[in-house]
Amino acid sequence: MTGGAGFIGTNFLLLMVDKYPKDRFINLDVLTYAGNLKNLTGIQERDNYTSYRTDIRDREMLEQVFKREDLEAVIHFAAESHVDRSITNPTVFAETNVIGTLNLLDLSRKYGISRYVQVSTDEVYGSLGPEGYFVEETPLNPNSPYSASKASADLFVRANVETFGLNALITRCSNNYGPYQFPEKLIPLMIWHALEDKPLPVYGDGLNVRDWLYVKDHCEAIDQVFRAGKAGEVYNIGGNNERTNLEIVKLILKILGKSEDLINFVTDRPGHDQRYAIDASRIRKQLGWEPSTSFSVGIEKTIKWYLEHEIWWREILSGEYNQYYAETYHNR
Ligand code: NAD
Ligand code: TYD
Repeated sequence: MTGGAGFIGTNFLLLMVDKYPKDRFINLDVLTYAGNLKNLTGIQERDNYTSYRTDIRDREMLEQVFKREDLEAVIHFAAESHVDRSITNPTVFAETNVIGTLNLLDLSRKYGISRYVQVSTDEVYGSLGPEGYFVEETPLNPNSPYSASKASADLFVRANVETFGLNALITRCSNNYGPYQFPEKLIPLMIWHALEDKPLPVYGDGLNVRDWLYVKDHCEAIDQVFRAGKAGEVYNIGGNNERTNLEIVKLILKILGKSEDLINFVTDRPGHDQRYAIDASRIRKQLGWEPSTSFSVGIEKTIKWYLEHEIWWREILSGEYNQYYAETYHNR
């Protein structure tokens, strides 16, 4: 798998290395600003876990791992994942999300990979009005450089299925939240700002809607798609849990006992998608997957995790967590 030191990859590995002691998990991650090896200290010494510091943009470097390890399957999480960063620096999104995926697909064919899962996003479908849901047949209509790069990657996966018969599947999930999410994303950012009594920056009128899913439910869904999904299929994954950003922010303030006066409406994100909402009936009907954590439980757990792991996010804010890696990455 790729991107195991990021938010979702970390949660996936921490769950799956335990759940499948007979499977070997090989984590390829270049450790950008978003990758944090400290997340994985709990499994670092496990017999069924290995990691490589590998850049998926670098085909030769990537091929070294394919040559060395007898890989059976690829689950591809690694990506540049933050929409705001894609607005200021789109190029790296094309390099990592598109070229990186293309490299993995080419090598997966060359080395006879028997199963490939592309971890994608509902953002490839674009934006919804007040009604309706994304289904897997909804046309791709990305609006941000991030979603454009993820949609492009999805199209290359599809082309590999159709042209080369690669056994590949795509998952498209809604917004995740939970432990280990980098503190630039909405929920962790609002938690640490509230704890610090800093203004909480809400873009525009705060009425944009996201469909929030607890990260462990996403990981279980990917695992089920990987093990039982139909080759070539796309699976939407969602929490059936739509909230406006303002609702989320107010809830966080309430749980932390902080004043709503901290809310600060700021200039809107350019091209800000209004609403995402997933119809996840395919994965529910075909694979029996359903979210198991309600939002009220998940958000409490998440806030508790950030309260109990203050060192984790403070080291990120100060840049201590991976100074060396961050510097080498930015100097490339
Ligand atoms: P993240 O930004 O937290 O982590 C990304 C990881 O990929 C990091 O460990 C980083 O070091 C690694 N990486 C980045 N560029 C790399 C490269 N060139 N080579 C090797 N590794 C590289 O992202 P996340 O939130 O964990 O998202 C994981 C995947 O899930 C992404 O593909 C994302 O598009 C998708 N997704 C995320 C969400 C969400 O809400 N976070 C929702 C749906 C889908
Ligand atoms: P984000 O966590 O960046 O996820 P995405 O853009 O991929 O959905 O943002 C979630 C929502 O929160 C999105 O509508 C933008 C909004 N937002 C804010 O209002 N303020 C912030 O500081 C951030 C980071 C996001």
